[in-house]
Amino acid sequence: MKKTTRRWVAAGVAALAAGAAAAAWVVQPALAPVAPRAAGQFDTASVARGARIVAVGDCMVCHTAAGGRPYAGGLPLRTPFGTIYTTNITPDTATGIGNWSLEAFTRALRRGVARDGHLLYPAFPYIHYTRLTDADIGDAYAYLMTRAPVQAKAPDNQLVFPLGFRPLLAGWNLLYLRPGPKPDDSARGAEWNRGRYLVDGAGHCASCHSKLDPIGGERSPAFGGGNIDGWDAPALTALLRAPKPWSAEQLALYLRHGWSPEHGAAAGPMAPVAHSLSLVPPEDVKAMATYLMSLQDAAAPSTPPPAAGAKDGADAARIRQGGTLFAGACAGCHSEAAPMMVAGGRPPLGLSSAVAGPRPDNLIQIVLAGVPWSASRSATFMPAFAASLDDAQIASIAAYVRADIGKRAPWPQLERRVTEIRKENQP
Ligand code: HEC
Ligand code: HEC
Ligand code: HEC
Repeated sequence: MKKTTRRWVAAGVAALAAGAAAAAWVVQPALAPVAPRAAGQFDTASVARGARIVAVGDCMVCHTAAGGRPYAGGLPLRTPFGTIYTTNITPDTATGIGNWSLEAFTRALRRGVARDGHLLYPAFPYIHYTRLTDADIGDAYAYLMTRAPVQAKAPDNQLVFPLGFRPLLAGWNLLYLRPGPKPDDSARGAEWNRGRYLVDGAGHCASCHSKLDPIGGERSPAFGGGNIDGWDAPALTALLRAPKPWSAEQLALYLRHGWSPEHGAAAGPMAPVAHSLSLVPPEDVKAMATYLMSLQDAAAPSTPPPAAGAKDGADAARIRQGGTLFAGACAGCHSEAAPMMVAGGRPPLGLSSAVAGPRPDNLIQIVLAGVPWSASRSATFMPAFAASLDDAQIASIAAYVRADIGKRAPWPQLERRVTEIRKENQP
């Protein structure tokens, strides 16, 4: 992931609202440093379990800079309030968490507090990791403490005034943090409870798949659909309304392999999530799918494609132009007869949420950036078109794909959206 925008916190507003009640959050004691333990002192079974917690939690995705060493931090997260850098969570004692006790590590995940007592920004999704059990936190600790220590200090954050002042985060915590694991719901089975635990806790799926309020708190309903790094993270509560309604089996397949034959590929910020989930036991991913399917409105019918609205002359001309461009640039791979579609068993583009969804963002992003080579799956490569197609051409292709392949009503203001997304993608 190049950058991860978390529109977390204008915490000042929250702190003012919360007033004195936040004081209890502001004052957090420093916890004593401990001497690092040799890797051999950790139980190997615990380390192996910890690897899976850390995979579900995507810790490496955020805590590794482009081209950097794993877990050494330094990845810039761009937010409307400035840039914040992930920290080094390797067991280096000078620049990492090498002298953090398990107690300090647990407090960071449960309450968003660093070992020395300073409050951490919610760009670190501790409001989800707080749900982790003591046992799982202990295993994640064992795993991270047995990684190679790397000496690397994260660059200083560049935040708009007054957000560099961390005590303001106390107000945010008061509003949004409900620390600690949730008890199982006794009315539900073990698989559902396991799924909820993984999705709401380590998986922190709602942090991308929910809308955020202006100070970065997740809005309800959870999983109602969000936006991240200029990509649409579709609602996870409308999976039965896709052109082909999702089943639990397809969902599990998509989450583990980053691809489903009825729905297409996981792209953009979802690609590393699916990659991490390929390292998790299949029964855990199945449990996540079971929980997610229980959030669907069972009565919701799959939407029949609405008849495309009457096209005015300009629309029709644009769609025709898009069709010509598609034939040259895309059809070699995406037409129904293309070898990739036939041999790879790939879904027609119209089944993808990038084409059938309410917004054009993901289609535009995929065309701009392409799909990188994947070592685990052969034949998953799509070239980037950012340099070879201009905004008007990409808008025409999107209009054509939407109308003639997706058979959906047109997206408004396509060309303007392409221009905006290109601009937002600039580093
Ligand atoms: C969405 C990105 C993101 C993910 C995913 C993430 N972190 Fe972080 N983490 C951050 C950021 C950003 C900070 C720094 C916050 C700050 O400086 O206030 C941080 C800070 C931390 C800290 C405090 C370190 C210090 O030196 O103060 C710990 C410990 C930590 N993360 C552990 C984890 C673990 C364990 C996981 C996986 C379960 C994880 N993180 C996943 C973004 C992330
Ligand atoms: C870093 C942000 C991020 C996180 C975390 C994340 N997702 Fe996603 N997800 C996305 C984006 C963006 C897309 C759209 C990209 C695409 O369809 O290729 C997506 C797509 C999906 C889709 C396909 C939906 C559709 O209608 O096509 C599913 C299902 C999904 N995510 C489930 C999950 C689950 C379950 C988790 C937690 C384990 C999760 N996501 C965590 C960003 C995220
Ligand atoms: C060299 C072959 C190739 C070309 C050319 C190509 N694509 Fe792709 N495209 C792919 C592959 C491979 C994927 C990922 C599918 C997968 O992983 O299963 C993909 C995915 C997509 C997706 C996401 C669908 C999904 O699975 O969710 C869209 C939308 C898309 N392409 C549109 C286009 C458009 C529009 C063009 C022309 C501008 C284009 N592609 C050109 C190979 C190609």
